[in-house]
Amino acid sequence: LDVDLKEIYDFAISLAKQAGEILVKESSNRNHNIKLKKNTVDIVTETDERVEQFIKTSILSKYPNHKFIGEETYSSGQTRDYLVDDSPTWVVDPLDGTVNYVHLFPMICVSIGFTINGKTVVGVIYAPFLNQIYSAYKGGGSWLNETTKLPLQETPLSQEAPKGCIFSCEWGKDRKDYPDSNLHKKVESFVNMAAEIGGRDGKGGMVHGVRSLGSASLDLCFVATGAFDIWWEAGCWEWDVCAGFIIVEEAGGLITTANPPPNTEVIPPAHLGSRLYLAIRGCTDNEHEPAQKSQER
Ligand code: IPD
Repeated sequence: LDVDLKEIYDFAISLAKQAGEILVKESSNRNHNIKLKKNTVDIVTETDERVEQFIKTSILSKYPNHKFIGEETYSSGQTRDYLVDDSPTWVVDPLDGTVNYVHLFPMICVSIGFTINGKTVVGVIYAPFLNQIYSAYKGGGSWLNETTKLPLQETPLSQEAPKGCIFSCEWGKDRKDYPDSNLHKKVESFVNMAAEIGGRDGKGGMVHGVRSLGSASLDLCFVATGAFDIWWEAGCWEWDVCAGFIIVEEAGGLITTANPPPNTEVIPPAHLGSRLYLAIRGCTDNEHEPAQKSQER
């Protein structure tokens, strides 16, 4: 295949940095022009659209033969051709954490993924308010700020690990009460699962905390560093997870498709378009051990 992954990786990093600058510059505008998408919590600002337009134009002028899938291009109905297929495809969320952005909660990022044969081979996530850039390409490892190799957390994930765990899950945007897939019940069972793990004897247990950041991309970065041991969300789109996929994988973690108990059915591996994701961090001791152990729980 005629693609130079390193070149694409370097280009994605430079685009993410430029996009991040726009996000920071425009964040002081308290009158974000907010539009609603599917419901009142599913929002888009003019900044999302502007940044996506910038990234899209830059990519397509350098790589005119590549496909582009962006959250806002898709949402505005400009393309129906959004599923990731075998062609070289850029999958972009110009602003992951739009609700955070509008509320001035700094957990926001730009997320740029590149896929071949339906799998992410390059991923770059830049969180400008954290001054953190997470990046990976197939076979090249996973990196924080281009110099620090991930994961940072080296303790194996096991019931005995003295460190304890942080679980993370997102509430998503769909508040509707479907008989077969009640999101609230799933989130509740995820939190229950966290409470279950060794905590019933009153001594505190293994799970030190449950977090919900409001940015699926950043959740995945924190799984890659090892700050988060497990992340779960139902209902993500391709652009929420595309870049994060390879950042987790190259850091030795695993992304699978599963619901929290009692309806756990692990159907690995997850792919772009699974919509339902469970990510488990890796450790430097043995890349595959933590995933196996967690699935047995
Ligand atoms: C959303 C965030 C949120 C997640 C949603 C995403 P957006 O992306 O990642 O954490 O729960 O599923 O759609 O709209 O802020 O780019």
